[in-house]
Amino acid sequence: MTRDSESSLRPDGGETAAEGADDLALDPWGSSTVSDYRKLFEEFGIEEFDEVLPEVPNPHYLMRRGVIFGHRDYRAVTDAMQAGDPWAVLSGFMPTGDPHIGHKLVFDEIIWHQERGGEAYGLIADLEAHSARGLTWDEIDEHSRDYLLSLLALGFDPEDGVLYRQSENRELQDLAFELGIEANYSELQAIYGFDGETDVSHMQSVVTQMADILYPQLGEPKPTVIPVGPDQDPHMRLARDLATRMRFFKVTEAYASFEADDAERELLAEAHETLADVADGATIRCVHAAQYLAHGADAVDFDVERPSVDVPDIEESARASAVKKLRSAGMEPFRPRTRFFDRKATDEAFEALVDAVEGEKRVYEGHVDAFDLDVAEAEELAREVEVDNGGYGFMLPSSVYHRFMTGLTGGKMSSSVPASHISLLDDPEDGYDKVKSATTGGRETAELQRELGGEADKCPVYELYAYLLAGDDDEFATKVYDECVGGERLCGDCKEQAAGLMREFLDEHQEKRAEAEELLDDLDIVLDTDRA
Ligand code: TRP
Ligand code: SF4
Repeated sequence: MTRDSESSLRPDGGETAAEGADDLALDPWGSSTVSDYRKLFEEFGIEEFDEVLPEVPNPHYLMRRGVIFGHRDYRAVTDAMQAGDPWAVLSGFMPTGDPHIGHKLVFDEIIWHQERGGEAYGLIADLEAHSARGLTWDEIDEHSRDYLLSLLALGFDPEDGVLYRQSENRELQDLAFELGIEANYSELQAIYGFDGETDVSHMQSVVTQMADILYPQLGEPKPTVIPVGPDQDPHMRLARDLATRMRFFKVTEAYASFEADDAERELLAEAHETLADVADGATIRCVHAAQYLAHGADAVDFDVERPSVDVPDIEESARASAVKKLRSAGMEPFRPRTRFFDRKATDEAFEALVDAVEGEKRVYEGHVDAFDLDVAEAEELAREVEVDNGGYGFMLPSSVYHRFMTGLTGGKMSSSVPASHISLLDDPEDGYDKVKSATTGGRETAELQRELGGEADKCPVYELYAYLLAGDDDEFATKVYDECVGGERLCGDCKEQAAGLMREFLDEHQEKRAEAEELLDDLDIVLDTDRA
């Protein structure tokens, strides 16, 4: 069976990613749909979720079915999960309308992670809603309440997790201010397309989101997963950059006292590996590595007392520059070491680091080289010294990405088009009706459907089953899929069944929302803002 649609899902974890054709631009405030998920892997470096799936203990059905399709660095989180180390999950919601079944995916992801032992955070992005979307504070209050009630109703445990609104969180805003020092306008322009007309508060909402993403690490650095749609990936990239820029030290591998870039370092590593094999007890010096990189292994002579090397005309610029650096380092021993580069440490922190490095070390202006530490040990030490000396020691935040649900009317599911989505506040009968009138992947006639089978991969109703209605029951999701594509299932009955399940879901969810009212009122989260 081949699947050719942009929205191919697996009912049971059996097949892989999507195909499609559209141009791709990720805009957190735009209305971009993503129809070619592969481009996210190729152009933006998001990794396929399948690659970490085996590390996830009892994966969520959204993971098993390929709804959660991508990630950045999620392994940091699964490692912490398995090791019993602290880790966190956080996501945020802009209170611009009713929470709908698309938001439910994210609520479920937060809750699932909380149940697996993560510190859980849910936040209301009210500053963003106010600045980027122009909602009034009254509207924001009302919607915030609705988001929080649904999150609680679906099982978020507030005793064991944190809920906040951006506008009420002073610590968050202080962090945003600090992070803002590391980001400049040109960068926001490049990432988000901001221009001279962009208002300053909108930009502030960006640094606020950066602070949200790093907020779980304020107490102590820890792996953190941010479940979001791929439209939020620009925010993840910036947050990961800023986390790096806040670090006191940068740890790299080095081979001599000079600095090398990544491409040069790769060549140095190769030179070292080769020369170590042939040195036979002789001291390997920078000039030997220069000979090797310029003229190959045969040109290296450990017996010559002051070997010289001319830099030939080398096309590859990294090789040429590495050879030059090695040549001017001359007789300096060529030895692998771990380097702590002083990025923005205070003097005391740098001194503390120098003291803390065990074994052989060499201190230079702006960096210290350690000869008896591997990179992982050095990373850990750098973070420890940073935190002890008043730094944050941020780890790079991780993310997982879920597919957008197709709207019930085809096209994009949008909060501003009521018929395209099902609000978690919809009257269950309206929910039933919306499903009944949804677009399907069915054929023109029942006869054709029996003959050719339906196109479940293009069917918003099938998505409802896979994303929500089948819940944890893979067998049921697979059955719907197989019956559909096998021509045994006709759209009328299929929608009737889905509509009934939707009505049931909404009924039950709204009952739980009512029960959650009390829980919400007991939390110290302000829902009647005293703002104009
Ligand atoms: N920008 C997000 C949205 O448009 C909301 C948000 C704010 C968020 N802060 C966040 C999402 C932190 C994830 C993590 O929906
Ligand atoms: Fe969609 Fe169901 Fe029709 Fe298949 S039978 S196309 S899943 S509505």
